[in-house]
This record gives sequence, C-alpha cells and structure tokens, in this order.
Amino acid sequence: MTIDLISQDLESAISSKSNTVLVLFSSFTDDKDKTPVLHNKSVAKQLETNLEEKSISGKTGETVLFREFAHASCRHLLVVGLGSLKELTHESFRQVAASIYDSVKQLKADEAFIDLESLAAKQKSEANLQAMVEGLILTSYEFNELKSKKDKKPSDVLFHIVLKEAKTAVYKAAFSEGLALADAVNFARYLGDMPGNLMTPDILAKKAVAGAKEVKVKATVWDKARIKKERMGGLLGVSMGSDQEPRFIVLEYNGAAKSKKPVVFVGKGLTFDCGGISIKPSAAMEEMKYDMCGGANVIATVLAVAKLNLKVNVIGLVPATENLAGPSATKPGDIHTARNGKTFEVNNTDAEGRLILSDALVYACEQKPEIIIDAATLTGAMVIALGNTHTGYFTRNEKLKKTIEEAAKASGEWVWNMPLTDFHVQDMKGTYADLSNISSGKGAGSATAAAFLEQFVEEGIPWAHFDIAGTGWSVGNRLKYCPKKGASGAMIRTFVEIARSFER
Ligand code: BES
Ligand code: ZN
Ligand code: ZN
Repeated sequence: MTIDLISQDLESAISSKSNTVLVLFSSFTDDKDKTPVLHNKSVAKQLETNLEEKSISGKTGETVLFREFAHASCRHLLVVGLGSLKELTHESFRQVAASIYDSVKQLKADEAFIDLESLAAKQKSEANLQAMVEGLILTSYEFNELKSKKDKKPSDVLFHIVLKEAKTAVYKAAFSEGLALADAVNFARYLGDMPGNLMTPDILAKKAVAGAKEVKVKATVWDKARIKKERMGGLLGVSMGSDQEPRFIVLEYNGAAKSKKPVVFVGKGLTFDCGGISIKPSAAMEEMKYDMCGGANVIATVLAVAKLNLKVNVIGLVPATENLAGPSATKPGDIHTARNGKTFEVNNTDAEGRLILSDALVYACEQKPEIIIDAATLTGAMVIALGNTHTGYFTRNEKLKKTIEEAAKASGEWVWNMPLTDFHVQDMKGTYADLSNISSGKGAGSATAAAFLEQFVEEGIPWAHFDIAGTGWSVGNRLKYCPKKGASGAMIRTFVEIARSFER
C-alpha cells in the first residue's frame, strides 16, 4: 500500500484511477440516546434516513458502504463509526484504521480518501493522525513471501489522508512518525515470522546490518570466536547444541553529544528454542521460531530511533543463537561462567534465554548507560499470568517505572508492572555455582527469571525487563491491526517513546 497526506480538494487530488472511495466518519455525542452524527453536512443530509433509522449507528469500527454514491468525485462512500466522542482516544483511530483498511481491500478500490475534515475540530489532533497512519500500515502487513503461488493481491491501494492543515510542520511530523514506527514494527514482524531455517543467528545479524546501512546506525557483529574471547559463557553455552554459530549483534546510534550516556536496549535472539537436552514437548514447538522476537523488536527500535533522528544516543544488543540438543549441547548440571565472572548451574537447558541475556546485560553495563531495557520471550509463566493483552515488565526503579507507564500510554500499548523482590533472588541461588538457572521455589516463574537477570545488572543502573512471551506473537483477534497469528512487534512503539524521553 501507499499512503500520503494531502490538503487539497478531493476533486483535484483524484488521479487517473477510477475505483475510488471516500471515507467519512460517524460518531455519537450523547451517550444516552446514542444519536448518530455525520460531520459532513451535505452527505448527512443525503443520508438522513439512514441516520434516523440508525443503519448508520456511529458505533466504533462500524463500516457502512454505499456503492456508486458519487460524492466529491469518488465513486463509493464508506462511513466508519468512531463511537462515543467522549471515549475517543488515539487508540480508537488505530483500531478504526484497521476497519477502513479491511473494507477498502474488500471493495477492491484502488484509491481511498480518508477525510479527516469530517471529524470534529478537537479530533483532528497530531496524535490521532499518527495513530491513523500506524493503523493502516500495521494492518497492511502480510507474510506470504514463502508461498510459491502467491495469494492474488488486490491492486495496490493508494491511501490519501485528507487534512486542510496537511502542510503544517506538526502534522507533517506526526505523519512521518507514524510511518517510521509502523514500518519498524512490520520489519520486526517479518524477522519473527521467518522460519528458523531462514532466520538463523547469522541471517538475523545480516538483516540487522542491512537495516543499519539505510539509516545512521553503526552495526558490529561478533562471531563465535569473538564471543568466546569476550568471555560470554552464557551465550556460548547455549549455542553448543547447534551447528549454527551464535552471533552478538551491536547497533549504535549517536543522535546526541558523545558525552551523553546511551539508552541501551537488549533483546533475546533465540532463533529457535527446542529446549535443548531438557527438550520441549512437540506440540506447538514450531512456535519457538518466535523466540527471537525480543531481539527483532530491539533491532527495529534502534532503526526507528535513527529514522526519526531522535536527539539521543541508543545502543541495541542482541545475543543470537539456537537452543538445540546436538552432541555437544549443554547438559543439565553443567556449569558455565558469564562475562562478569558469575557462575551458574544449568539445571534446565530450556531456561536458556536468561543465560544469553546475562552476558548481554553485563556488556550493556560496561557501556555506562543511562538506563537498560531488555525484551525477551522469556517464560511460559508470563503467558499464564497475563495472556496476550499486557506485556509484563519488572523494575525496582520508580523513576523508570513512571517513564515506562507514560511511554506505553503515549504509544497505545498495554504494560503491567510485575513484582521483583529479594525473595525471588533468594530462589535463584545455586548449589554448586553462584546461581541456578531455575528457581528452587514454586511458581512466580517470570519473577524468578527476572531476578536471575538482575544479577547481571550493576547496582545503580536503572534497568527494566519486559517479558513479551505472551504478547510477542499470536495475540489473537482483539487488536485488528495485529495479525492473529504471527509476530506482533510488541513494545517497539513504547521503546521508541522511552528513548525519546531521554532527548532532553
Ligand atoms: N522461550 C521459552 C519461553 C516461552 C514459552 C515463551 C512458551 C513463549 C511461550 C523459554 O526459553 C523457556 O522455555 N522457558 C521455560 C523456563 C523454565 C524451564 C524455568 C518455561 O517458561 O517453561
Ligand atoms: Zn527455552
Ligand atoms: Zn526460549
């Protein structure tokens, strides 16, 4: 799909394409009688009966199509419900954009004019425009490039967002922002959806390098020999069961003075997790190609920050490996040493994410960061606790917690603060080594995993861990702009917002 922001009259904007559709908004202002309102007065007059009968109800996401309506030189008219104006948020626009995209696709239109002038003045905000752009691009994501017979695609739709103030700097910025964010999310989804054989640690690294080349990001990739030399015993230990070499991906973006401390993002890049010797059951094991979504989302975050030219220094770190059960694989009971010298017993080889993150977190601390944020599909327990709505995050830093809550709210993603205490740390003590990679207690598997990670973060450095096990892929059909199955790109928008908060 193609999308632009235009200010001119529709008549003069229509290109040679013939199958055009005009999109107008309906809503209701009075929550009691829910009388539908259409803000375009002349169309409202023509559709008076439809409004009276409430066949146009104004309900959120409702789409009513009038074929051959012929208004403003557009062949068809699509009326989209926004719901109650009192409850309207930027998230409503993301959701409504998904309804628009689906209807336009079904209609097989080649050109759609989304008339934001049909909104009440208050709703024509930058945030709503940005959300509309995000919603359209996020909904357009499809992953079918590995099918030999491609699904017949409807002709590429040209979306125009019509807004009088289109040339104003703030609206132009909101438009570009939505574009950059949604493109980044779709890129991360693509990395996640690729099968394990076509998204090995080396391929993931190459994709990151290629992405970095398009923006001002420096990419460095360590191979196995370098990882060994750098004493990354966790990453190396996990990789031993596989023929594929591990990689350690470093992305650096300098948008501020060199003296300014970087915001460091760390992402779990497990390109396939069979559990290792503590092998997983076969059912749904194929989903473990998504175990690199934390890494993919961190790569996409850094690229988006660079694309947006944020005045902040950002580093992205992705330890990437497979977790397989080959002859040299780490065995239960084996002990490895992380980069900071701490030792751990691997009592369950399926708890591998924390092992590769340990080295990456130590490296992150060496960068003297402002904050460290990590993202990982870390525990099945997280899926049990929060399902696929909220991403659970752990931090003991109140200031960072506030930053995270504000960033999530601004980006329309749902997060939930989870407990992390000394009790959880206690449960991760080892018998023969400093630490065990599984808890000695029952339950709270996500918190004890977070407590393990905390052992690799220097005191005084604000750090938060995001467990995206439930939200990284297969988020169901609640969010119309996310694929039901497939990678979601969770937290990229929030992470970019967190980075932005350090611009000042
Ligand atoms: N990648 C998995 C976590 C996971 C499982 C994410 C299911 C999403 C859905 C992780 O490496 C893992 O297997 N964790 C174990 C840890 C346990 C052995 C302590 C888990 O959660 O079962
Ligand atoms: Zn595992
Ligand atoms: Zn895993």
